[in-house]
Amino acid sequence: MPLVQTDQPAPTLEDLRALAGREWSEVNRLIFRRLGSDVALVNQVAHHIIHHGGKRLRPLAVLLAARACGAEKDSHIAVAAIIEFIHTATLLHDDVVDNSGLRRGQQTANSLFGNEASVLVGDFLYSRAFQIMVEIGDLRILEVLANATNTIAEGEVLQLMSRNNPDISEADYMEVIYRKTAKLFEAGTRIGAILAQRDERTEIALVNYGRHLGRAFQLIDDVLDYDASPEEFGKNIGDDLADGKITLPLIYALSHGSAAERHMIREAIESGSTQNFTSIQLAIETSGGLRYTAERASDDANEAIRALDHLPPSKFRDGLAGLAQFAISRRY
Ligand code: IPE
Ligand code: IPE
Ligand code: MG
Ligand code: MG
Repeated sequence: MPLVQTDQPAPTLEDLRALAGREWSEVNRLIFRRLGSDVALVNQVAHHIIHHGGKRLRPLAVLLAARACGAEKDSHIAVAAIIEFIHTATLLHDDVVDNSGLRRGQQTANSLFGNEASVLVGDFLYSRAFQIMVEIGDLRILEVLANATNTIAEGEVLQLMSRNNPDISEADYMEVIYRKTAKLFEAGTRIGAILAQRDERTEIALVNYGRHLGRAFQLIDDVLDYDASPEEFGKNIGDDLADGKITLPLIYALSHGSAAERHMIREAIESGSTQNFTSIQLAIETSGGLRYTAERASDDANEAIRALDHLPPSKFRDGLAGLAQFAISRRY
């Protein structure tokens, strides 16, 4: 039985992309058009990570949000590309920090080109995103994206500070995932409302939608880190534990597992050792840690869908609801 039950079957990514239609292809074209540099290593690293795709959920969320709010001009296409560049920059940095070896089904940039090249090309992608923002020339958009980028950095640092600490609470964890992941979704969907020049109520609805979508998305990422097949997920399983990173499935097992399980988990977090990974995976499963985390993700997805009540009915609003369902039923 799947961990997350949804009322309706989740749409596929292809369904959602088809909804964005021509704009979806335009965003992808723009991403490739703006990737280039005359510095060979920049091109090599940037192409490596961008060519292997990724789901491109954030640009999709921007396109659907803008259309659901009735945006008429096409500026959201550039914003969607900007958001994907920011996301990709965070991945290049994150894989160095997390010492990860597999991403998008391929060896990570850090394992192929080294940490130095990954960090520096991450900076290139961040700054390319800001160059495109300046071209759009809208200070509100610049403000939202500058704040989001700053918050993501704080989220990653907060997480670093809690590494190897088994006493992290659920609230601490929620704060980290809001900052490191949900904030970018929130910024993207908020800009959809800003570009459509909608009232404050609509903007707040899109902020809430993006925030809950992003949280649901990261909660499921943290489930999949214990529960996916690397072939499907495109990332190695157990990376979080190996990195001493404590996520909700572990936090739950630490307070609901047997005394022996708690002891084993505390030791693994403190040492970052994956020696007992299979037993820990089992303890997380039997204590209900995976189910609990999936339920929290489901709550967030429902909150996201509820926030859409403030928008007029449209196929794009349905698409946003579908994206929330996809985020919690995904296996990759
Ligand atoms: C990975 O995000 C980083 C997280 C916030 C969990 P995605 O799963 O959206 O990565 P890609 O872009 O599809 O590879
Ligand atoms: C990544 O969180 C968040 C950001 C990239 C800012 P994770 O560390 O869980 O993402 P993955 O699992 O490496 O994709
Ligand atoms: Mg990571
Ligand atoms: Mg992860």
